[in-house]
Amino acid sequence: MILLGVNIDHCATLRQARYKDVGEGGAVEPDPVALAERAERAGADGITAHLREDRRHIQERDVRRLRDSVSTRLNLEIACTRAMIDFAVGLRPHSVCVVPENRTEVTTEGGLDVVAGRDRVKACIKAMAAAGIETSLFIDPDEAQIELSAKLGAPTVELHTGAYANAYGTPRRSAEFQRLRLGAARAHDLGLRVNAGHGINYVNIAEVRTVPHLHELNIGHSILSRALFSGIEEAVREMKARMNP
Ligand code: PXP
Repeated sequence: MILLGVNIDHCATLRQARYKDVGEGGAVEPDPVALAERAERAGADGITAHLREDRRHIQERDVRRLRDSVSTRLNLEIACTRAMIDFAVGLRPHSVCVVPENRTEVTTEGGLDVVAGRDRVKACIKAMAAAGIETSLFIDPDEAQIELSAKLGAPTVELHTGAYANAYGTPRRSAEFQRLRLGAARAHDLGLRVNAGHGINYVNIAEVRTVPHLHELNIGHSILSRALFSGIEEAVREMKARMNP
């Protein structure tokens, strides 16, 4: 069975759109922590939140509250910086997913460049392991990135499905899908746990779910979009049903 991690960042995006200047104790709707609780009740296997350096959606108090309330697993997405590594070690989520961060992007775009950031990534994996936190590296399905992730001792990679999702409905779709399949097979052969995420929706899930060796999918935008109409419980149940028909 493929597990579902629900990314709740966009719930905080909606809150910040109205309440970003309201301090602690002020209005919080919609509350991402309450959303996470409902998602878990509907069958989410984990909750993912990205504490960005610019704090544009999720805030520190959100992840502290999530750490206390999440009953499945909390996966904290972080940039590979000293400040974020220290924050994660202090918070002790179940896992961290290391993502690249570019202040002008709307949401995470390319994968982490493990090759270019080798020493920093290695130090991050080591710091997390010492704190009992599992590290996942969010990378493109490229051989060099996958091989180095394994060499540096990352237990898990999250394959970036964004290029595939963007190619859906274009002639590039099958090539991008093939990259994902090959990347997942290579990662598995090297002993890595294989997660995937970004741009997965209720339509492309029919194909994404057939990528071999998938352990968990992290999905945010599509589930939250559907939740506006159906409620989060129904949106989570429907995605899980499509992931594991
Ligand atoms: N995985 C990672 C590492 C992400 O940064 C994100 C959000 O940007 C997602 C998964 C979820 O992507 P989406 O919101 O498109 O489902």
